[in-house]
Amino acid sequence: MADDLKAPPKPHDASHEEPMGRATFTAFTNATEEDWQKIVAANSVFAKGHVDRIVTHLNLLKGDCGGFPIDRLEHSLQTATRAFKAGMDEEYVVCALLHDIGDTLGVFNHPDIAAAILKPFVSEQNLWMVENHGIFQGYYFWHHIGLDRDAREKLRGHPAFEYTAQFCHLYDQPAFDGAYESMPLDAFVPMMQRVMAKPKKSMYLKKQGEVAW
Ligand SMILES: [Fe+2]
Ligand SMILES: [Fe+2]
Repeated sequence: MADDLKAPPKPHDASHEEPMGRATFTAFTNATEEDWQKIVAANSVFAKGHVDRIVTHLNLLKGDCGGFPIDRLEHSLQTATRAFKAGMDEEYVVCALLHDIGDTLGVFNHPDIAAAILKPFVSEQNLWMVENHGIFQGYYFWHHIGLDRDAREKLRGHPAFEYTAQFCHLYDQPAFDGAYESMPLDAFVPMMQRVMAKPKKSMYLKKQGEVAW
């Protein structure tokens, strides 16, 4: 990675704080409740940095064009800006912003990465849209690379089919315009913080709806 693409060092990264110190076990089988209280305390600090870490990862897409006319961060910002300006709600806009965040880690299944990040926080409809946007986006180019552009047809009938088709048609596929003025990433951070403030679904949710850590 070029030096100018590295995120600037933070003066103090609270995500590594351990308010009660560290546990001392060597295996989970000999960990005590006191050990786990230390981990829970540290994790509650760590969780507060979730959005910051996502922003850091989005910034990895900067300068990464992969042959496209604009880089992957600009494409993400443009997709989200188009959705925002069309009056879509915050959850949808955050999905639009993150839909390609997996491009660097999931070269052969990038929608799964975004879907995994968003899954605790978004509706079934938005989750399905993010999870499946790749095959819907394929309608616009797969015939150019030896694939079936109509592959999405096998998903027709799903309640979110048209919803996802609209996402790609209106916001994703047109978001490669080098002359478009996107909103800056900072403008989306408060939206991410609100949408991701508390998980709706998680294996770490207690019956009362609070997270265990
Ligand atoms: Fe994508
Ligand atoms: Fe995209």
